[in-house]
Amino acid sequence: MEKTVQLYEGKAKKVFATEDPALCIVSYKDDATAFNGLKKGTIAGKGVVNNRMSNLMMQLLEKSGVPTHFVEELSDRDTLVKKVAIVPLEVIIRNVSAGSFAKHYGVEEGIVFDEPTIEFSYKNDELGDPLLNSYHALALKLATKEEIETIKKYAFKVNEVLSEYFKTLGIRLVDFKLEFGRLPDGSIVLADEISPDTCRLWDIKTNEKLDKDRFRRDMGGVEDAYKEVFKRLMGE
Ligand code: TMP
Repeated sequence: MEKTVQLYEGKAKKVFATEDPALCIVSYKDDATAFNGLKKGTIAGKGVVNNRMSNLMMQLLEKSGVPTHFVEELSDRDTLVKKVAIVPLEVIIRNVSAGSFAKHYGVEEGIVFDEPTIEFSYKNDELGDPLLNSYHALALKLATKEEIETIKKYAFKVNEVLSEYFKTLGIRLVDFKLEFGRLPDGSIVLADEISPDTCRLWDIKTNEKLDKDRFRRDMGGVEDAYKEVFKRLMGE
């Protein structure tokens, strides 16, 4: 399958049309942004890591009963996916306090929760992705009640499957962000990516950060962190 016209360029990916109107090609870039695009940079090799990691995660999730947009990995950076209409919600699951949770509620990072939390943001860059609850999402007609229930069910399932999987790699899945899409038949599938850009991944033994927080917080060792996750995923 070949790329035809570019449909969209986001902060970390480009999306191309193909000859098949039901399929798109996603192309992962090394560009990195944080704080709604205020901070800009490049993470060498990130596009390859994120593409290949996302595809592994999507295939694992499909096997576990979570439908995804994944069709076929075409190259190191390019993947064929089902064309979806993205539901404009960022769905965040947390297992451990970190990031904006720690900041909002005035707690330290690293508190392990008894139960995972879920929250939604309205995916809208102009508004800075404001937090909202499911009633707000319904009021704004971002999704139906049934869609929100399905999204919640899939998001918690993703957490179960990926938390277990990362544990086998010596990684703690602290939190992550998901996006879902609608297929032409109206069904909901997991879309976007699952990568060190969209997850907090801490080494189980040392709590070393192996994710984009190293870029957001100018910690250094950004490329090495992405490479380390990739190495563990590849079983090296
Ligand atoms: P937060 O603690 O900053 O709210 O982030 C929660 C999770 O969501 C974390 O794993 C990083 C991810 N995330 C994104 O993927 N995109 C974003 O724009 C933000 C703010 C967070």
